[in-house]
Amino acid sequence: MSTSKLSKNLTVVDHPLVLHKLTLMRDKHTPSAVFRQLLREISLLLAYEVSRDLPMTTQTIETPVAEMEAPILKGKKLVIVSILRAGNGLLEGMLDLMPSARVGHIGLYRNPDTLQPVEYYMKVPVDIAERRVIVVDPMLATGNSVSAAITRLKEKGAKDIRLVCLLSAPEGIERFTKEHPDVQIYTAAVDSHLNSHGYIVPGLGDAGDRMFGTK
Ligand code: URA
Repeated sequence: MSTSKLSKNLTVVDHPLVLHKLTLMRDKHTPSAVFRQLLREISLLLAYEVSRDLPMTTQTIETPVAEMEAPILKGKKLVIVSILRAGNGLLEGMLDLMPSARVGHIGLYRNPDTLQPVEYYMKVPVDIAERRVIVVDPMLATGNSVSAAITRLKEKGAKDIRLVCLLSAPEGIERFTKEHPDVQIYTAAVDSHLNSHGYIVPGLGDAGDRMFGTK
């Protein structure tokens, strides 16, 4: 998998398949059904990268030919936390690759005037402190919502946290990294900037609206 590191906290998953699919998603003519399918496919590739350092052990098995000490996951407990509603688009592909992961949800919406996050729902596994937490949200824009979400997860005891987002803005990365320097960010691309409405430029528009056809 091709990745590059722009900073200590940021991994850009700039694999050709990811970039190709992202271009199709950015195109405003791409219909919702195709947009959702592409997001699911990209999330599989992002899941591959975010799970790269899962701890391994070995197990003795017998192949049809010989006995061997074979590598196997050490059984690190995972939880994928989706930031509603657009996070659910990334969640599907993540679960395709990590089907036994638990799932948490946090509902936040952006106040359109202040751009500040307002929490309306939260449900996460009670043992979140013992799990590796993968937070998914397609857009790291101002960073306000995802920062607030991760602060809440830390209040619930989460310690080992990674953030997966499809697209990021430099402003969001800076803000997020200041608040959560312990959280590694995985993203497919870092765009130019945010506009005055808090949208990523060039971006792909409102990820939730693009997924669900609500505009
Ligand atoms: N959320 C979105 O869905 N799109 C943006 O560009 C910014 C935040």
